[in-house]
Amino acid sequence: MKSMLDTDAILIESWLSEAEDRSLANDVLDGLTRPFKELPPKHFYDTRGSELFERICEQPEYYPTRSERSILESRAAEIVEATGAGELVELGSGAADKARILLDAMSAAGMLQRYVPLDVSEVVVRDAAAQLVEEHPELRVHGVIGDFERHLDRVPAPIEGVPRIVAVLGGTVGNFPPGTRRRLLRAVGALLGPEDRLLLGTDLVKDPAVIEAAYDDAEGITAEFNRNLLHVINRELHADFTPEQFDHVAFFDRRHEWIEMRLRSQRPCSVLIGDLGLRVEFAAGEEMRTEISAKFTRARIEADYAAAGLALDRWFTDEHQLFALSLARRVFAP
Ligand code: SAH
Ligand code: TRP
Repeated sequence: MKSMLDTDAILIESWLSEAEDRSLANDVLDGLTRPFKELPPKHFYDTRGSELFERICEQPEYYPTRSERSILESRAAEIVEATGAGELVELGSGAADKARILLDAMSAAGMLQRYVPLDVSEVVVRDAAAQLVEEHPELRVHGVIGDFERHLDRVPAPIEGVPRIVAVLGGTVGNFPPGTRRRLLRAVGALLGPEDRLLLGTDLVKDPAVIEAAYDDAEGITAEFNRNLLHVINRELHADFTPEQFDHVAFFDRRHEWIEMRLRSQRPCSVLIGDLGLRVEFAAGEEMRTEISAKFTRARIEADYAAAGLALDRWFTDEHQLFALSLARRVFAP
């Protein structure tokens, strides 16, 4: 572990090292040697990927960020009241723009103590931490640089007597297939004591045209974000993808109720993944899946919670019913 004590207010611990390189290599080996090629989404987020994601959030077509933020703005005080929370743990925190709304509300209620952002992207966590402690002198930030599929046990123990909110925002939970998603929710639930609550942001099922536009903006930022995955593989594994030869594809799968992102090879090509000594062939028009983003109904979320040993406490949506935030508690055996 690399541990860096920056100031009294900020502690950032990183749990990513060669293990992370291995994880990309394993995922590439596993995903690109299948008949239907596929790559897991967490590798999008190097520094450039995180920047591109922030730009996606500003695109007029990308409604999830605006909708979730509007719910938080109108409900943060109520959420803080209802939970009595003085600590926010956020998994996949990114730039912490939404966390800020909750932290402001905790501060206004005189309850703010600690923020624990967990993310694979170190730069964004550092920048956010520095900004937040400046805004809130009473705040301590304990950043965890890691993978929330592997490093939840690195989340610091709760502060005694201080209820906490564990948040997964931005629809990130929808980026996992249903089984993995429930397993992840169960693991996240294990972080909750009786007084703690999960705060989950989920995008809702709606007109497919609206969803497809959100994942294929006119400016082409989402397309560039999608292709960034190939840049990451080129750099980290010494591969020789030509990213410009892959087109961005986004379509709503009505049966699964998720949007699926793919990269489609414009022409036949043979790619060398140097570090793996692996050659991967793409046919003309061959597609590789890079991301799914599930869209939810309240019933589906309740079913997920039940499967994960959680129970829905409160349900909030925006005025257009585009996005939902829900609070859940852990169900303890009697
Ligand atoms: N919560 C923010 C950011 C969402 S983008 C928002 O709502 O705007 C998803 C974030 O999760 C990115 O910052 C990405 O780096 C992080 N992330 C994705 N997969 C991850 C994983 N397996 N472990 C830790 N962080 C992950
Ligand atoms: N969690 C975001 C979502 O599902 C991630 C995201 C937005 C994304 N746009 C994307 C991932 C485009 C890959 C490609 O909405």
